[in-house]
Amino acid sequence: MAIAKNMPILPVQAYTSQDWFEQEQQYIFSRTWQFAGFVEDLSDPGDYLTLQAGFNNILVLLDEKQQLRAFHNVCRHRGTQLLRASGKGKKFLTCPYHDWTYNLDGELTAVPERKTQFPDLDLKTLCLHKASVGIWRGIIFVHPEPDADSLTDWFSPVEPYLGPHQPEKLVEYVEGRARHEINANWKIIVENYIDGYHLAHLHSETLFMYDHRQQETGFVGNHFYFYEPLAKDYLKGIEDNSPLPLIDHVPKDKIGAYVPMLFPNLGLSETESSWSTFYVIPVAPDKSIVEIRTKVMPVSDWRYLMQEWKSWNYFRHRKWDKYGTGDADDPLASGDFMAEDIYVCEQQQRSFKSPYFSIGATAKDLEQSVYQYQRNVQSYVEQRMS
Ligand SMILES: [Fe+2]
Repeated sequence: MAIAKNMPILPVQAYTSQDWFEQEQQYIFSRTWQFAGFVEDLSDPGDYLTLQAGFNNILVLLDEKQQLRAFHNVCRHRGTQLLRASGKGKKFLTCPYHDWTYNLDGELTAVPERKTQFPDLDLKTLCLHKASVGIWRGIIFVHPEPDADSLTDWFSPVEPYLGPHQPEKLVEYVEGRARHEINANWKIIVENYIDGYHLAHLHSETLFMYDHRQQETGFVGNHFYFYEPLAKDYLKGIEDNSPLPLIDHVPKDKIGAYVPMLFPNLGLSETESSWSTFYVIPVAPDKSIVEIRTKVMPVSDWRYLMQEWKSWNYFRHRKWDKYGTGDADDPLASGDFMAEDIYVCEQQQRSFKSPYFSIGATAKDLEQSVYQYQRNVQSYVEQRMS
């Protein structure tokens, strides 16, 4: 089966056509656990957030008893979205269209003109539709189905391959939140995320702190796992070399980069000094958004300054710029590995339109993860279509 290994699993249309996109919305994103936020985003009753999960807009809130609840964010009257974005301290959920009002348990409590015009309307039959919600590693996940399979069962097989990080003990570096609009299909971004082959090449000047030859990768079910140790010279003086304070609960023999991609679209990046979520949101066949949130050690600003200062020695001789052009407008000269990745993702998306496009994979071992991911996407859709 050597030939099959090199053949692309998914056709070009999987990355360009509206039909494929809608199928994935229906059979993948409407039917998997989706990232909603961090536990600390909701702290008091009535705090809420909203998200899109496939065809479903979902709202997550803390009810009066501080319990997490998830509902489909559509009014039972005419389907208008009830709440927008996120917010604090809601006592009731009122639809902007006709002021139908629900309590935090999703029960319809008030319909204007009811007494005069619809005295027989039974409010109990018009509760908000429930969705499933759960917490794993300090992350809130939502599933559009009310009786979804257990979140714990979904992630437990991949847990042995994750970092020893305890995200609950870290704090979010809020200024470091990033949102990238990328002109590429969501799968291109995921495939780039799990592709270990390009790390030593595209990122030769930006990710030199890790030993890319020592990658350990694989799949557990649909989830992808990835680990690589720190580069020897970086590790040797890591206490000084790290630009951020080290995560103190990661034992020295476990230090490295753990970069899993949880099916279908949530990457984690668990390193010696930070813990990040990388959430890929499909917007259109050729458009996606990536939202990144990062947690770090809860220590003083002074410690951060000191650490940055100490790490200067290790980083000061680096040029960061792949071709040394110094061109400020060139993503390949940015010194930012995310800018480098966005560049190649958008280039691949553009190439799909060329009649000369084809995939000539040679790295059977290193690109196997990309093929396996495509197989997983395909079989997830097929199983649910049949
Ligand atoms: Fe990359």
